[in-house]
Amino acid sequence: MTHRIRKACILTGGGDAPGLNAVLRAFVKTCEHEGIAVVGSEDGFEGLIQSSRRLVSLTSKEVRGILPKGGSILGCSNTANPFHYGPEGKDVSQDVVTRIKDNDIDVLVLVGGDGTMNMGLQLQKLGIPIIGVPKTIDNDLGATDITFGFETAVSTATWAIDALHSTAAAHVRVMITEVMGRYAGWIALSAGIAGGADVILLPEMPYDIERVARKIRQRSDQGITFSVVVIGEGAHPKGGAAAEVAKGREGHLPRLGGAGRELEEALEGKVNHEIRTTVLGHLQRGGSPCAFDRTLGTRFGVMAAKLCVEGLVGRMVALKSTKVTSVSLEDAVNHPKLVTAECDLVATARAIGIELGA
Ligand code: F6P
Repeated sequence: MTHRIRKACILTGGGDAPGLNAVLRAFVKTCEHEGIAVVGSEDGFEGLIQSSRRLVSLTSKEVRGILPKGGSILGCSNTANPFHYGPEGKDVSQDVVTRIKDNDIDVLVLVGGDGTMNMGLQLQKLGIPIIGVPKTIDNDLGATDITFGFETAVSTATWAIDALHSTAAAHVRVMITEVMGRYAGWIALSAGIAGGADVILLPEMPYDIERVARKIRQRSDQGITFSVVVIGEGAHPKGGAAAEVAKGREGHLPRLGGAGRELEEALEGKVNHEIRTTVLGHLQRGGSPCAFDRTLGTRFGVMAAKLCVEGLVGRMVALKSTKVTSVSLEDAVNHPKLVTAECDLVATARAIGIELGA
């Protein structure tokens, strides 16, 4: 689909991820160079839904100095869904369409995860030209090899596992670290390997508690007094389910949490250690993006602007091997990328004796 673009509206949907500002900066700078005007919708779709929120004009002045900053200068929202808005789940999509048309916006650029891309696909069916930019610390979008934000989250989690290692070693303790990732174990697996974890438990591989306990006891038998366990927030024992802090409102995902504490309770009495659990939570989403995410975000922002220049809409930016390209929005949504038993990282972990609980 090609389409003449003079004015673009960009928004950052869903939860934040380190590198969002790099995307905004690169998109705005490239568009400015190409003579395309840019406005930003505040707080995800809120800026397009509520007239009290703003559509802000974005030029190189507004994006100056934001590259190393975490969060998003536009703000994010993972509750503002035009097709399911507010406590009653109202469909306000026509209001969004009207606001876009009233503001002479030729394309809506959505920086977000699978949920945001799904909203984009629905808006496209209502006649709104869409360009997507994939974002999530979970790295669980099948259409792109990697999403920005993931590397920073893994670095933060690795730093935390290193720190917990030294305090675990100073005591006779099992240290459990619960990391984010929802139903994808990429953060747990990558940070677990990088941090030298003894046990890594993933949402995709329900664990056998006896295997976990056996690994810790074996280490004790070898004279190693401590063990470090990394658990993805969506991990659960065989026959169990992911631990939830709260059910999601209709149309929203549940809030996960508690996998680490559940594991701690299940291990009590099976090992002769004190056990402590640390939940890293939003530390993994906050802070300055690492160099990789700044670069990837910049590459994605430039590609989104190039799609605007070429008038190529209905596409999502993607990284394939070393090249930034684009895929059709239809092909991009609803294809989660999950850890498989056959994948290289799993084989690597097993080869060096990391217990995966399955
Ligand atoms: O999808 C990104 C993510 O950080 C998940 O890893 C996590 O489960 C979720 O968002 C947390 O969302 P919230 O900020 O709404 O608690």
